[in-house]
This record gives sequence, C-alpha cells and structure tokens, in this order.
Amino acid sequence: MFYLTTAIDYTNGKPHIGHAYEKVLADVLIRYRRLCGDEAYFLTGVDQHGQKVQQTADKEGIAPAEFVARVTQSFLDLWQKLGVHYDGWAATTDPRHKACVQAILGDLNDKGQLYKKPHSGHYSVRQEQFLTDRDRDASGSFGPEWGEVVELVEENWYFRLSEHTAWLRNYLESTADSVLPAFRKAELLNALERNPDTDLCMSRPKERLHWGIEIPFDTDFVTYVWFDALINYVSFAGYQAAADSGLPDFDTLWTSDERPLHIIGKDILVPAHGIYWLCMLHAMGIPDERMPRLLVHGWWNIRGEKMSKSLGNIIDPDALAEAFGVEALRYYLVRDIVTGRDSDFDVERLVMLFNTELANELGNLCNRALNMSQRYTGGAITRGRTFHDADLALQQSLADSTAAYREAMDAFEVSKGLEAIGRHVVHCNQYAERMKPWELAKDPEKSARLATVLQHLVESVAHCTVLLSPVLPAAAAKLASQLNLPGLTETGLGELYWGLIPDGHVIGKPAPVFPRIIVEEKKPAVESK
Ligand code: ME8
Ligand code: MG
Repeated sequence: MFYLTTAIDYTNGKPHIGHAYEKVLADVLIRYRRLCGDEAYFLTGVDQHGQKVQQTADKEGIAPAEFVARVTQSFLDLWQKLGVHYDGWAATTDPRHKACVQAILGDLNDKGQLYKKPHSGHYSVRQEQFLTDRDRDASGSFGPEWGEVVELVEENWYFRLSEHTAWLRNYLESTADSVLPAFRKAELLNALERNPDTDLCMSRPKERLHWGIEIPFDTDFVTYVWFDALINYVSFAGYQAAADSGLPDFDTLWTSDERPLHIIGKDILVPAHGIYWLCMLHAMGIPDERMPRLLVHGWWNIRGEKMSKSLGNIIDPDALAEAFGVEALRYYLVRDIVTGRDSDFDVERLVMLFNTELANELGNLCNRALNMSQRYTGGAITRGRTFHDADLALQQSLADSTAAYREAMDAFEVSKGLEAIGRHVVHCNQYAERMKPWELAKDPEKSARLATVLQHLVESVAHCTVLLSPVLPAAAAKLASQLNLPGLTETGLGELYWGLIPDGHVIGKPAPVFPRIIVEEKKPAVESK
C-alpha cells in the first residue's frame, strides 16, 4: 500500500500557491501510482488549533471554531476546484483525532516519556515558542520575524526528545530514503550535529491557550502545535481507533512493505518532521522499518522573494485557476519546479509553458492526428502491416520516453517526467512534417502508407493521454472521449503496449483541448494584498 500524506495546512489564513503546489504534487503522485496498478491512499487536511487562530478569531469577535470552519471551507473548495482527490481528510478538531492524541499522550506518560518542569525565558507570541540566544540577530535582539517577544515563567510538559536523538542519527544515516532529496537529509544531519540535546516543550497552560487538545492527565494544560498537528498522520490512519470510527485499518495503511511517504515543505523538516516526529514515533514504539519517508519540497518564491502578507505578493491559486484554467495551473505547478528545489512563480512562464508545450506541441499533435484521421479515413484507424525506419524510430521514441517518464515519476521528479513526454510529442510532430500525410492523401496508391502514418500519430496521442492523466486528468478524459476510448484513462502502465487502438477502431469527433492562452493587456489580479 502506498500511503501518502501532505502537510496539513494551517487555517490561520487563506490558501496560497504554496499550499496548492504541495497538494497538486501529491495528487499527481497518487494518480501515477494508481496508474502503476498499486493500491494507494492519500491523506491531507487542515491544522486547526493554535494561538494564532485563537488570536485572529478573538480579533474578529467570533469563536475559533467558527473561524476555522470558514477557512477550512476555502481549502475544501480549492481542492475540489483543482481536482485534488484525497481519500482521507485530516481536520484536527475532529473528535477522533483528539481521542488519538490523548491516547498517545497517556501512553507516552505511562512510559515515562513526558515530565513537567518550570521554564523561564523569552517567548514569541507570533511563533508560539520560547526563544533561545540562537534566535537573536547579529545585533543581539530578537528580529521582527518573531513579532511581540515577552518574558514568561511557566510550568509545562516536556517530551524526552534527548533520549531519542542518538537513535535518530543512526536511523537517518543507515536508511537511504529516510529523507529525500539527499541534500535535505544532509541538512537535517547538520542540524542534529549543531543542536545540543534538549527536550521538547509540548504543552501550554490553558489560561494562555484554550484552543487546543487537553492533556488528559493534567487538564489545566493543552498540548500544542506539533504534538497535535503531527499526530494527524497516524490518527487519521486509524491508529488506536475505535472499530466503528470509519477510519482505515492502521496496519494495512501504515505498512513496512512500502513505508508511508510524507510530503512536506522545506521549512517544516527541521526540527518538526525530521526531529520531533521521527522521535515521537520511535518513543511510541514504531519500529525502524515502519518509519515514514520524508519527501521535502522547496518553495515557490515571487521575484526571488518569499511570499508574505506584508509584501502583498501572495499568489491566489483560485484566481489563477479562474484566469487560466485548472489544467494550465496544475501543469505549471509541477512543470516549472524541480522537486526539492525552490522556484520563482511567474505568470508569464505559466502562459509561455502552456502555450508552447501544451497548445503548440501537444495540441498540434492531437489536432493533426485526429483531424486528419477524420478527413482522410473517416476516423477509422488501421494497424500498419509494413513499417518504414521512421515508424520504428517513432515506436522507439515512445518506448524511450515512457521509460524515462516512469523513472522520473518513481523518483518523484514530475517535471522530468513531463519533459520525457514532451520529447516524444516533438518527435511525433517532426514525423508528421516528414511523412506529410496530406500529400499521401492525394495518391490513392498510398492509402496503406497513409493509414500507417496516421495510426502512429493517433497511437501516440493515446499513450500520451494515459501518461499525462496524473497531471492533466480533465484534459486526458477529453482526449479519451475524442479517441472514442472511454476506458483509456483507466489503462494501467503495465498494459501500455503498442497497439492500444484496436485495428479498425473508429475515433470520435476532435475538438481542441489546449486552446492557446491569449493574454489581454490588463493582467488578471492574482496577487492579493
Ligand atoms: O506549516 N511554496 O502549515 P502551513 C511551497 N500546519 N510550499 C509552501 C510555501 C511556498 N511558498 N509556503 C508554505 C504548516 N508551503 C503546519 C504543518 S504538518 C503536521 C503541519 C508549504 O499552512 C509548507 O512548507 O504554514 C507546508 O508543507 C505546507 O505548505 C503548509 O504550510
Ligand atoms: Mg508555515
């Protein structure tokens, strides 16, 4: 079982392009694995508790529950619009999650993994954390990124993180795919090297934070941030769930035959997922062979800068989908970034990549192949009997592209996978230019040759439809219907042999699937203040 999760999005603000990227990437990988014929389960959701939510709701004069319900709806609507199809929805105010968090806290406390002690220090209200001297800037003060910093003395609960860091180092070093890509693992190991072993404060007194999950054995406290949010990956996978919970079976989902894959952004690797979460799982008794793999993606920046409310450069995925279409947005989000690296979000590149790779190259291939088949053979596709070198070269190009696509997709490198398909599309268009079916059509003696050429083009369209379906599910469905092969997008990669189009098959009515994006003078407003 391929069990894939994403980060759960914080419900303090509106969804942005970074959220959309992560969920589309996950959706693409899930659809790809299903195409491979594998069983797959996709969990995503929202992180609904915490101080910022409490503060924002207070400011608006509404209950936190009402506030998060509204923000949660905007995420749900976006995933629906972008065709992000998940199997499980992790909302941290769900009572089943709360029960699981409390059960885990109880177990860890019974095992002596939690203890209470007083702490005094500087505390960032915005970041909801105590600060250390390492958080000071060059001038020795706490920078504006921390917001208001206050001095606090308070008792809290701690997790014995330091008991697990030696294990963690060894586990990371001895497990090749513990953190992907490899340079992120190196970052994590460096961070472990630099940091002295300290335990993790994981509670807040209720008088300061009431919008959280109560610690079952000390009800003046709630557990906060990571002990709540991270646990979603197991709580919604059915860990210690009641038989009638409606949640999946934990042992089926969270297996060692293929370890879970958590997709996260680079900002939440160290320390949250790379240190806290793996140590928490270890403390819970999860064995090494069931530890999740972390796939760490980079960030979309804007003109080299971080997206932020204060810069007013937050890109709204909903507005982009309205302006350019869902397929153009999905394509751009996985095409113009290398998994693991940062990229610059650029609307002009979105338009350029759509127009060149989809409208011009792929669109042109589909239009030609289908229209000429309609015009010259009444839509009937006849399998070739004798092949020219050019035909064999086209078949080889498709085999090579498919293999390169699979290798890239298996390594989560979607952009490379799309490039591989693109190479075959370009090959097909060049083949069409050289074979000139429009000339062949003029000579009745060449009708067999014409049929073979058209078959090679239409067969290629069918293969590209299947290979592109994880990224462009709606376009793939349209092409399948134009090919008059409604089951085509359910074709598994294992069944993707040459000859997808049955001999004598009659295709349907062609229509453009990737109309060029025409940019008006006035650019659509996709950046929100
Ligand atoms: O961190 N580009 O939530 P979040 C790409 N609730 N990805 C981005 C991004 C950008 N510009 N900005 C954010 C949280 N992300 C916690 C997670 S998981 C148990 C709890 C990614 O809403 C970010 O890296 O701030 C993270 O993976 C996800 O969006 C949610 O970020
Ligand atoms: Mg964040």
